[in-house]
Amino acid sequence: MAEATKITLRRPDDWHLHLRDDLILEAVVAFTARRFARAIVMPNLSPPITTEAQARAYRGRILAALPVGADFTPLMTCYLTDDAEPDEIIRGFKEGVFTAVKLYPAGATTNSANGVTDMGAVLGVLEGMEKAGIPLLVHGETTDPRVDIFHREAVFIDRTLAPLIERFSGLKVVFEHITTSDAVDFVTSAGPNVAATITAHHLMINRNAMFEGGLQPHMYCLPVAKREHHRLALRVAATSGNAKFFLGTDSAPHTLATKETACGCAGIFSAPAALEQYVQVFDEDGALETFEAFASLNGPAFYGLAPNEATITLKKIAGQVPGDIPIENAEGPKGAIKPFMAGEALSWTLVD
Ligand code: NCD
Ligand code: ZN
Repeated sequence: MAEATKITLRRPDDWHLHLRDDLILEAVVAFTARRFARAIVMPNLSPPITTEAQARAYRGRILAALPVGADFTPLMTCYLTDDAEPDEIIRGFKEGVFTAVKLYPAGATTNSANGVTDMGAVLGVLEGMEKAGIPLLVHGETTDPRVDIFHREAVFIDRTLAPLIERFSGLKVVFEHITTSDAVDFVTSAGPNVAATITAHHLMINRNAMFEGGLQPHMYCLPVAKREHHRLALRVAATSGNAKFFLGTDSAPHTLATKETACGCAGIFSAPAALEQYVQVFDEDGALETFEAFASLNGPAFYGLAPNEATITLKKIAGQVPGDIPIENAEGPKGAIKPFMAGEALSWTLVD
């Protein structure tokens, strides 16, 4: 068979995205809207999005920040807290404002301080969500500081996720941005109501990338990249065609000022080229025929939405990840945002 040099697929969706707000939102949203028809927008603003009214207002700001003519629908999420009200969440879902609810264990990652401290506090909410069919999106890392950071995902499965899924067997759960073979195995053997998103960067880098020639803050995100055998397990899962695995970039912009500092933020900003990078991974693994399932079909099927009708085309033409994205803010040049693998070569280019 001749080597594929072109791929046309239904427009993909990004099932895990951070757009932030204000100037950063304005600077980053076009990268996503150019490539993806819809995105699940994370609610970890400061303060977080916990009410239907906040989500409506944030959705309005996202739509207002889109370039003229963009065809992009933000799907909003609710940030789960210990004192969340089941009625607020269920009403927001029924009114079409919330698409899902995000569980951050308190302290697990960026802007998670208001997250859930004790799963016992949210049992009533989870019960209501199970009945209403509202998906729970899980940041799956234990916050127990005694657990090695590279084992926090695996320990979370045993201590929190497995018992949760056993108790709420009908709850739709997305295990977000999985990074380990343990997570791949867990999701694969769970029921059809349990799925996972996989980022482009976790398919491309292992933990060495954070220390290559010195400390590399732009390779640091949570969950942190793991060992090579975990990366390879993620590639097998993503390219398998298994409907439980779908695209979620976890593109998470932070300014240079907050990344390149003594205590740098977690988050990799991949939106400018994540789609092209995913295609490259599938091409390298001889799996272009399963790319549409991963990028455009499995996610909508899990969420109970129709896949997009429009298509996009990528060609195997050399390209380049953009350099730093400037932001006109108080931080001056340090207010810019560096994309994942900024300036590096891309082997696929979006042409239509
Ligand atoms: C995310 C962020 O910056 O909001 N950071 C990250 O490292 N992925 C939060 C998250 O998804 O964990
Ligand atoms: Zn995220």
